[in-house]
Amino acid sequence: MDGNGRWAKARMLQRIIGHQRGVETVKKIVEECSTIGIRYLTLFAFSAENWLRPKTEVKALMMLLKHYITAETSRMLNDNIRFRVIGNRPELPPDVLHHLDEAIRVTAGNTGMTLTLALSYGARQEIAAAARRVALEVAAGRLTPGEIDDACLARFLDTADMPDPDFLIRTSGEMRISNFLLWQLAYTELYFTEKNWPDFDRDELYKALVHYQSRERRFGKTSDQVKGRV
Ligand code: FPP
Repeated sequence: MDGNGRWAKARMLQRIIGHQRGVETVKKIVEECSTIGIRYLTLFAFSAENWLRPKTEVKALMMLLKHYITAETSRMLNDNIRFRVIGNRPELPPDVLHHLDEAIRVTAGNTGMTLTLALSYGARQEIAAAARRVALEVAAGRLTPGEIDDACLARFLDTADMPDPDFLIRTSGEMRISNFLLWQLAYTELYFTEKNWPDFDRDELYKALVHYQSRERRFGKTSDQVKGRV
């Protein structure tokens, strides 16, 4: 969800106003994705590296996050959305964590879209943490080094019970992954749009999804194989 700051700067507004508008986009896109039957929506809301931003911006983002969760939990219940969080949870302020955990708890039984917020999240950190957990299993004698393959390691990631993403959308014209789901994106279709996140709306979402429909997902196979001609 990139480009909140640039959106605000272009209008001579404070960055935080851009983030506020970004939250409005989050609400609309979550509702739209849930309505059209997307099973999993994962939003990169705060990276492990975002802690390095000015203290006032970090504080404002945490406040926005808390407001979003308190205001939106009832809508998640209404829309059958299951809420969850990935990332380094202990780094989050205790009051924010409390609200997140409450939303996770009350929506746990929902069977519609799973909405995941990546918070204080970094993919390299996630993979390192998974490797540490695997090492502990080996040290405890519950796993042998020979049993460690990609499927095994994936079970120790934050996303263990989620499918890999089919589609990634990055806004604001940046063409980078920026430490997001590095492992899980191996065969994900990538889409980049010039639109800043506050300007990303329903029409832009549909444009992206139509684009996705034109992609041929080969997963290393040939086009003929995928089309069943071989
Ligand atoms: C990137 O734009 C955006 C962020 C670092 C924060 C994203 C946060 C929100 C949309 C609001 C909070 C989220 C929820 C779910 C309540 P940027 O600030 O890097 O923009 P820039 O690159 O133009 O400076």
